Amino acid sequence: MIRIIATGKGGAGKTTVIATLSRLLSRKGYRILAIDTDPSMNLAMSLGIPFTTIRTLAEDKIGIREQLFGNDSDDDYDHDHPPNIDIEEILRQYEVYAYDDVRVVVMGTIPYGGAGCICSSISLVKLLIEHIASQTDRYDIVIVDSQAGSEILGRGLAVDYDYNLVITEAFPKSMEVARHVMKLAGDLRIKRQVVIVNKVKNGNEVGKVIQELSLTGDTVIPVRYDEQVAEADRNGQLILDTAPESMTVCDIRGIMDMIQGSCQS
Ligand SMILES: Nc1ncnc2c1ncn2[C@@H]1O[C@H](COP(=O)(O)OP(=O)(O)OP(=O)(O)O)[C@@H](O)[C@H]1O
Ligand SMILES: [Mg+2]
Repeated sequence: MIRIIATGKGGAGKTTVIATLSRLLSRKGYRILAIDTDPSMNLAMSLGIPFTTIRTLAEDKIGIREQLFGNDSDDDYDHDHPPNIDIEEILRQYEVYAYDDVRVVVMGTIPYGGAGCICSSISLVKLLIEHIASQTDRYDIVIVDSQAGSEILGRGLAVDYDYNLVITEAFPKSMEVARHVMKLAGDLRIKRQVVIVNKVKNGNEVGKVIQELSLTGDTVIPVRYDEQVAEADRNGQLILDTAPESMTVCDIRGIMDMIQGSCQS
């Protein structure tokens, strides 16, 4: 099972890219689980699911933790030999079928002011994905959409993942976040980091990112700007439905081709 995470600065286009990519891969026949770990829960909406109808992991955090951890505490939990629990049953309760049969699990949000951080929810998702990887062949690819910034990597969610899709725009603050998440992803031994330069309006922008982040060309995929993407978003839709021939969708197909290549090898 291939594991992918998307990271990057707020508004860079993580959710747009992940929602489109998940659906394109699903159309090719891959069984996709898209996990929304952003407390804003935009991915589910982008995939056509009103989040008010979703049962989130965070709502049932204590019960799920007990099932996953058994009686072990966080500290003495043996990640190499997780307890033999019915992971399929847990997934059946939380996965929702979205457009193009992409399955979605939503981590959930912060329930009330002062409720504290989302760290325990992130560690729950981490554990869930470890169980999925070791105990079921339900999915071919798991794709995680993250909250803006680096917290999710700081919490160690994506250890040994196959891809970190670093979504960035070609301006300094966005590239700075990209630089930081790439450093953390390296610490977590993520196998391949691919920089997606999003909202590209001219060729110079890609060169700027390559230079600024000291990249080689084969680790960079440009995704062109198209006003129709934001227009679709404003109407609660995805570009894949409103303008499937858009150059943005065409470029995201390039990301799909790269991932398909690694599925075959
Ligand atoms: N290639 C593109 N061309 C034009 N607009 C785009 C493109 N990609 C994303 N957008 C627009 O940029 C805005 C932010 O996109 P999106 O919500 O996907 O970013 P994000 O990184 O997930 O943000 P957040 O960190 O807040 O979750 C949206 O209005 C979206 O429609
Ligand atoms: Mg988002």
